[in-house]
Amino acid sequence: MSTRAPGSRGGYFRTKTVEQSIRDTEEPEHALNKSLSALDLTVFGVGVVIGTGIFVLTGQIARDTAGPSVALAFLVSGLVCALAALCYAEFASTVPVAGSAYTFSYASLGELPAWIIGWDLMLELALGCAVVAVGWSGYVRSLMDNVGWHLPDWLSGAGQAEGFGFDLLAFVLVGLVTAVLVAGMKLSARVTSLVVAIKLAVVFLVIVAGAFLVEADNYRPFIPPAEGTADQGSGLTAPLIQVMFGYEPTTFGVQGVFTAAAVVFFAYIGFDIVATAAEETRNPQRDVPRGLLGSLAICTLLYVAVSLVVTGMQKYTDLTVDAPLADAFKASGHPFYSGLISFGAAVGLTTVCLILLLGQTRVFFAMSRDGLLPRAFSQVHPRFGTPYRSTVLLGAVVAVIAGFTSLAELAELVNIGTLFAFVVVAIGVVILRRTRPDLPRGFRAPLVPALPVASVLASLWLMLNLPTETWLRFAAWMALGCVIYIAYGRSHSRMSAPTSPGE
Ligand code: ALA
Repeated sequence: MSTRAPGSRGGYFRTKTVEQSIRDTEEPEHALNKSLSALDLTVFGVGVVIGTGIFVLTGQIARDTAGPSVALAFLVSGLVCALAALCYAEFASTVPVAGSAYTFSYASLGELPAWIIGWDLMLELALGCAVVAVGWSGYVRSLMDNVGWHLPDWLSGAGQAEGFGFDLLAFVLVGLVTAVLVAGMKLSARVTSLVVAIKLAVVFLVIVAGAFLVEADNYRPFIPPAEGTADQGSGLTAPLIQVMFGYEPTTFGVQGVFTAAAVVFFAYIGFDIVATAAEETRNPQRDVPRGLLGSLAICTLLYVAVSLVVTGMQKYTDLTVDAPLADAFKASGHPFYSGLISFGAAVGLTTVCLILLLGQTRVFFAMSRDGLLPRAFSQVHPRFGTPYRSTVLLGAVVAVIAGFTSLAELAELVNIGTLFAFVVVAIGVVILRRTRPDLPRGFRAPLVPALPVASVLASLWLMLNLPTETWLRFAAWMALGCVIYIAYGRSHSRMSAPTSPGE
């Protein structure tokens, strides 16, 4: 039955009411198990957030863009995420259904913006999962090399081989993660808890053992003076903000801190996924905000501490790109710690992959349940209670992308996609307060509308600090999404006909 609410708008901006979104989750064959607690959500948050960002990007960004002030970049990025987290927390506690920013937008901004967000989230979740799988494969190969097992170059990924290159390990990891997700949420949560514990132990090891090896001289200068970039040929690799205002592209200096913040933002990606699990949470009104803010606070603290320790242990100009944390210990004459850190990073990145893919399947599930994607993808497995069809489809696509693509600059595409979602969610909070002031809100963001406006501006600021070429790729992806919506989603949407298609 069509359940368009009285007063909801038609056409591209027709909205699905919050009550309708919640009712959809109660249809038996489309319902997910409600089994997660605040602790599970925090573990999920930390499990997905700590990963390639801190283990890999810290060294590269300190060396090339910010020096020791990479710690400030983590702080700036963490603050941008905190503003967004308060908006996500309000939205998720008001609309506790699968799909995160997608669902929120459907209830506030309308169908086309919701579709755009769902399409955009694929950049964050599916592409992010592929990026992390490739990073994981690098760590595992380096561990294997330590014990004398070498994969042939052509099975070590596109970046390693001369001609044909296939990243076997990344491909296999995504396959295994897909199988775990099809088997069910409970198993995923259990596996995740164990891996998160190992990952946190390694991060604490870096902070505590590394603190004794810090030399104050390495912090001078804390913010290295600005200098011109080697690559000034085409403006495409310069941050858009520099191109817009016609600056000479530079690295380091105060501008370098912000450029670095836009890139290390990748290290925070994933905390918003806690919101995507709202439908599977026993008490979403209370537990979702706790899970979101808790995991974000823990990660910010750890990132600032780790980056201070690492840039204090080794001069930023000497940090390595592939395994900076482990190599800083090796350079200080502690190879045993270095091996442990590599092992922890390899284990830790598996949960990042797992939860990113979990988030992606849930967004896909919600879009399919609404008819914007084929409805067959929102059938849940009779025994496991998981959306197995969408999980298998997405797992296969991500495994192929991870297997065949070298993804260095795609990480920036993941960042821009995520920041765009933050902008839309913050706008949605303000709109929903106006259009549905009556809704019960388990968590209310403070200082509305000032806080969401600050969140929009802060996210846009980081986006502007990303390279121009990233903006162009983002525009192309979004244009493709609009074409698909007009060709399929608009006519198949459950909101478009009295009887739902495919039923
Ligand atoms: N935040 C995740 C990472 O750093 C995506 O790998």
